[in-house]
Amino acid sequence: MKPSVTGRNSSLFTPPPTGFVLRCIECGVISHAASRDFRCSECGNLLEISDPAWSGLDQETLKAEWRERKLSSAAHDLSGVWRFRELLPRPSSQDHVVTLQEGNTPLFELPQCSRITGVKQLYAKHQGLNPTGSFKDTGMTVAATFARQAGYRWVACASTGNTSASMAAYAARGGMRSLVLVPEGKISWSKLSQALDYGALTCQLRTDFDGCLRLLQELVRSAPVYQLNSINPFRIEGQKTLAFELIEQLDWHAPDHIILPGGNLGNSSAIGKALLEMREIGLISRAPKLSIIQAEGANALVRTVREAGGKKLISVQAETRATAIRIGSPASWKKAINMLNATQGVVEQVSEVEIAQAKAEIGAEGIGCEPASAVTLAGLKKLVRQEFVSPDESVVLVLTGNLLKDPDYILDFHQGELFQEEPQDVKLDGLRHQPVVLDASLNAVLKTLEQADMSEPMKQ
Ligand code: F0G
Repeated sequence: MKPSVTGRNSSLFTPPPTGFVLRCIECGVISHAASRDFRCSECGNLLEISDPAWSGLDQETLKAEWRERKLSSAAHDLSGVWRFRELLPRPSSQDHVVTLQEGNTPLFELPQCSRITGVKQLYAKHQGLNPTGSFKDTGMTVAATFARQAGYRWVACASTGNTSASMAAYAARGGMRSLVLVPEGKISWSKLSQALDYGALTCQLRTDFDGCLRLLQELVRSAPVYQLNSINPFRIEGQKTLAFELIEQLDWHAPDHIILPGGNLGNSSAIGKALLEMREIGLISRAPKLSIIQAEGANALVRTVREAGGKKLISVQAETRATAIRIGSPASWKKAINMLNATQGVVEQVSEVEIAQAKAEIGAEGIGCEPASAVTLAGLKKLVRQEFVSPDESVVLVLTGNLLKDPDYILDFHQGELFQEEPQDVKLDGLRHQPVVLDASLNAVLKTLEQADMSEPMKQ
């Protein structure tokens, strides 16, 4: 039976208004319109957006323009994504822009993690401080804008939770309906509740993320729904702005390393693409090394690089408590490999205990993040031990999601219930903080305060 979902305009994209094209990452074939599955009509590989005008832009004019816009109160200037619009595909009218003032996220120094790792210049770019609590918002504003411009009534995604939360919010803002496919029982209730609150039609499927994504691919071929997973190249364009904003915050000095988590591998592709474009324009003189960290239980890219030389994807049956990156068959693996090669970055994996320890250490900095983001610090420790990162180099960790995204994980960790057996090799003691139940008396609280004061030395 044919689905009866109707779109105001179910046709393919109209020719792009600002001169950008869609290019196949493998065979280079260029098209002016994308099919709904965002794959090359010749070879089936993913597409990326490029605009010949970008390479001719003047870096000093761009810097001045972007700085100037910080003083503007126009909606698209308040967005930390559209502020960089010269390097984005542009909609035919500003009225199409769907924004929640995304981007504009802080860059924090991490003094305690710096002591732990020995890396003197260590920063966190906290994308968890976006409107829906994850980096997805920076891509979603661009893709939702083009969905609205094309007249779609329905947008859809498969998700481990953050994409669905973000998509549902941007669809609601843009007056579109949203369809969410998530693996039943495998995403945090915090992310699930966001999708519900923003009004998404939420389907919990009895499968994993990879199963949800496969089904979505079938769906977009048979119904006029617009796909908002990161294989959508418009999302990638929006996510590039993390790199623009980051390097601007560092006064146009590129760090030596950028380290980020890898799941479906859209974000690594986006940041890598941005770095290469910035280098081409002259906004930076050299690209930082972009390294990708995965959970040991969801290590498809690690295995693809180590066992297949990056030539063919090795899928895995994914399992990790960092549910955001519980992905066994990453869609953008080829793009990510291209970026690793172009920036001379590496891929590494970390264990569940290493993730938990790193997450608590980032929490102890007073900023916190979700488990998937903490793989970056855990990975950095390994890269320092391997001497891939030297203590004198500058490093930026990309924290992709907000601390409040996964409260169950936090409670399990602090109550000692995250692992079936107490880990022997990694020390977690000083990092755990159990809640204490007391009588409501001054004496009881004072005694507890005294004990706590004696058990922990004063921090600098
Ligand atoms: N960190 C967080 C918090 C995420 O939500 C994700 C992906 C990643 C890292 C990995 O990013 O896929 O671009 O490599 N979450 C997706 C989702 C898959 O559905 O929310 P990636």
